Amino acid sequence: FGRKAVMLSSTQSTQNDVQKLAEEGVAEGAVVFAEEQTGGKGRFGRKWFSPPGKGVWMSVLFRPKLSLQHTPQLTLMTGVAVCRAIRACTGAQAGIKWPNDLLIDGRKMCGILLESTVEDHEVRYCVAGIGVDANFEAGEYPEDLQHIATSLKIETGQPVDRTALAAAILTELEHLYFLYQKEGFSVISSLWEALSVSLDRKVVITNPHGMIEGTAVGLDPSGALIVEKQDGQRELIVSGEVSWKG
Ligand code: BTN
Repeated sequence: FGRKAVMLSSTQSTQNDVQKLAEEGVAEGAVVFAEEQTGGKGRFGRKWFSPPGKGVWMSVLFRPKLSLQHTPQLTLMTGVAVCRAIRACTGAQAGIKWPNDLLIDGRKMCGILLESTVEDHEVRYCVAGIGVDANFEAGEYPEDLQHIATSLKIETGQPVDRTALAAAILTELEHLYFLYQKEGFSVISSLWEALSVSLDRKVVITNPHGMIEGTAVGLDPSGALIVEKQDGQRELIVSGEVSWKG
């Protein structure tokens, strides 16, 4: 991974840059980094605050042999890789909130966006976007993010070497992707469960189908979250937003 690497001082979104490379036929593992994004994208069409020099804003190309219903596995794999890299590089006790927000003490310091391009029900390629809040100071967040976001620098008291962190993320991604292809999803699933802060907790899931309350009990083989409702029935959650209850 990273054999084809592009570094940009400013771009709209590294997701679009990698998508363009993918359409030009570059091999998987290609990566684009930016110092700043002017139109950083989050999940559910949200904006991702990406000011210059404060974070690791990067996107990576995958060309997996995968059917569309299994792409959540790649999302979870990316979350595990980034979480491991952050822990190793900074010592921060990052945990994963399903599907793949990384939190420290309940505050988000990293988001992951997986966008898949599909043709005839086959995945042609996936672009994994990773945004790590590395060197923000406490007062540098806009008001709407102040209470929900944090940075590695705020949490550890140490500035982050963003180049070293980006390199560690690529190394972990390559390692886990290899493992995933060789051994299948079960190994990723165990790693994910060990790093998760969502399991064994009362959660509320909001998605276009409504709201589901219950206890998050594990991952199913496709990567969906298993939620046990009060009546004992289990539901599989494929996408949505999780919040805690109690
Ligand atoms: C989320 O939690 O909503 C996902 C945020 C993903 C942000 C990253 S930053 C690099 C890449 N480029 C983008 O425009 N978004 C992703």
